[in-house]
Amino acid sequence: MADPQLIDDVRAGLGGQPKSLAPRWLYDDAGTALFDEITRLPEYYPTEAERALLAGSAADVAEVSGARAIVELGSGTADKTMTLLAAFDAAGLLTSYMPLDVSTEALDRAAERALERFPRLAVAPHLADFSGYLPAAVDPQPRLVAFLGSTIGNFLPAERRAFLEHVSASLRPGDSLLLGTDLVKPVDRLVRAYDDPGGVTERFILNVLTMLNRELGADFQVDDFAYVPLWDARNRRMDLRLRARRSHQVRIPGAALAVAFFEGEEIRVEVSTKFHLDEVGAELKAVGLEPVRVYSDDDFALTLALRTP
Ligand code: AVJ
Repeated sequence: MADPQLIDDVRAGLGGQPKSLAPRWLYDDAGTALFDEITRLPEYYPTEAERALLAGSAADVAEVSGARAIVELGSGTADKTMTLLAAFDAAGLLTSYMPLDVSTEALDRAAERALERFPRLAVAPHLADFSGYLPAAVDPQPRLVAFLGSTIGNFLPAERRAFLEHVSASLRPGDSLLLGTDLVKPVDRLVRAYDDPGGVTERFILNVLTMLNRELGADFQVDDFAYVPLWDARNRRMDLRLRARRSHQVRIPGAALAVAFFEGEEIRVEVSTKFHLDEVGAELKAVGLEPVRVYSDDDFALTLALRTP
């Protein structure tokens, strides 16, 4: 039986116009493996930029936050997170780590990694979509919620505001959020990061159609769609789309849907918003999260914000 949330999203996103799909559906096991490959591409700068910032700041994050539990939203395989856990471990603070992700394989890998390196840590992986769910009571306190990789860039502005409100509401005074954000930079570098010559990103985005064929018995012909990465200058975000190469119909029996595409019609599959440093701070403040540290270079920023009383 297909995920009822997937059925709802597909009906809402492909049933009307303009067509879209929520980015979380990119991250089935195959998609998560492809995303992991993306993070190792030379063109995809965010991963290494954030890793370097984490290496330089983790000890300070441990000291300033004083956190004893870390909840990581959208952990993926938690490769970079080990740097953070190591600093908390060295400070003798950390007792528990809860990675949260929608991919079982990624989550298993995250838990395995954490336990291998920190055998005394209580590791509690949680299979969930971070946008609707936060563990209400993770102990001990204070807690640090880590949301890395600029995954927050996947939200549209109103969704982002709602999400940050939700995070803030689920924290207690003294808890904190460590947020990774990709920064606005020259367009050519941005576009290259989402349009690699080896076509890994293209396969990652097209994989969502294969997923719909498998999960909902759809009959998408992957070759009927072209990958189109656009820079939306006004909204400062990459806008990743699939464009129908010809007019045709697709049946999606699992969602009781038949979808007509005209030639050139697009499905928006993911946005990846880029930020200015001051707007990150302002958005956090607006929901009661006080930025106390910003670690950044020209490419990327990590902001540590404390939940105010
Ligand atoms: C995992 C959402 C942070 O937006 O850069 C990378 C996803 N999509 N290449 C990003 C992604 C295409 C990535 N995030």
